[in-house]
Amino acid sequence: MQSLSDKVVVITGASRGIGAGIAELFASENPRLVLAARKKPDLQKLADSLDLPKKQVAVVTADISKAAGMRRIIATAYRKFGRIDIFINNAGVGFAKPIHEMIEKEYDLILDTNLKSVYFCFRELIPKMKKQGGGQIINISSMAAKQGVPNMAVYAASKAALNIMSDSVGGEVRNDNIKVCTLSPASTDTGFGSPGGRKRPSSSVVTKLTIREVAETALHIAKQNPNAWISNVDIRPLAKKR
Ligand SMILES: NC(=O)c1ccc[n+]([C@@H]2O[C@H](COP(=O)([O-])OP(=O)(O)OC[C@H]3O[C@@H](n4cnc5c(N)ncnc54)[C@H](OP(=O)(O)O)[C@@H]3O)[C@@H](O)[C@H]2O)c1
Repeated sequence: MQSLSDKVVVITGASRGIGAGIAELFASENPRLVLAARKKPDLQKLADSLDLPKKQVAVVTADISKAAGMRRIIATAYRKFGRIDIFINNAGVGFAKPIHEMIEKEYDLILDTNLKSVYFCFRELIPKMKKQGGGQIINISSMAAKQGVPNMAVYAASKAALNIMSDSVGGEVRNDNIKVCTLSPASTDTGFGSPGGRKRPSSSVVTKLTIREVAETALHIAKQNPNAWISNVDIRPLAKKR
C-alpha cells in the first residue's frame, strides 16, 4: 500500500462528521492537509487539534456549491503546497421531506452542493492533475443512490447522478493516471440533516456505521496500489456491532 507521507490531501466538509473523521485518521499518516468548509470556528478547532505540524495544515473557508468557492479551495492547496494528490469531495447536504413539500430553493441547494460542486472540482482540478502526472479524486456518495429512499428523493437523485458522473469521468481520465472513486456509506452516525427538513426516523435504520469505519475505508482507498484503480466502494454496517 502507498504511503501518504507528504502527500497533499484536500477534504471538503472537514469541520465535522465524516470529513472531520477522515482528517483525524489521515493525519496519522503525516500528509499535508487542506481542510475546507463554510464556517471557520469548527474547522480551525479541528485543524488545531490534529497531530501534525502547523505548517502541514491549511484551512480554507469556501462554499463548494459556487464555482468561486471550489476554485479557492484548489488555489489554496496549490499556493501552499504546490500540488494536490488526493481530493476528497465529502461535503454534502440532505434532509427528509416529501417531494411535494420541497421548495425549489431546497432542491437547488441539494443538487448544487452534492453534484454541481463535484463538476466544479473536476473542471478545475483535472487539467492540473494531468499536468502533475496524476492524482485521486474520492467522491463521498451514499447507499441512498442505489435504491429509492422515501422522503429523500432529491438527495438520493443527487447521489445517483454523482455516481454515474464519477464513473464516466473515471473512464475519461484513467489513462492520465487519475483515479476517480465513489465511496458510498450507508447511514452513518453523524448529525447529518437540516433544521429546515424533517429528520429521518431512527427506527428505519437498524445499525449505523461509525465515522471511524467510513474514515478507515477512505484511507484504504487513498493508499491503494498505484497500479490498480478502486472505482466504487459500498460500505454497510453489520447487523450487530461487535
Ligand atoms: N451521515 C450519513 O448518514 C451519510 C450516509 C451516507 C453518505 N453521507 C455523505 O457523507 C458526506 C458527509 O456527511 P456527514 O454526515 O459527515 O455530514 P455533516 O456532519 O452534516 O457535515 C457536513 C460537512 O459539510 C460542510 N458543508 C456543507 N455544505 C457545504 C458547502 N456548501 N460548502 C462547503 N462545505 C459545506 C459542513 O460544514 P459547514 O456547515 O461549515 O459548511 C460540514 O463540515 C456527505 O456527502 C453525505 O451525503 C452521509
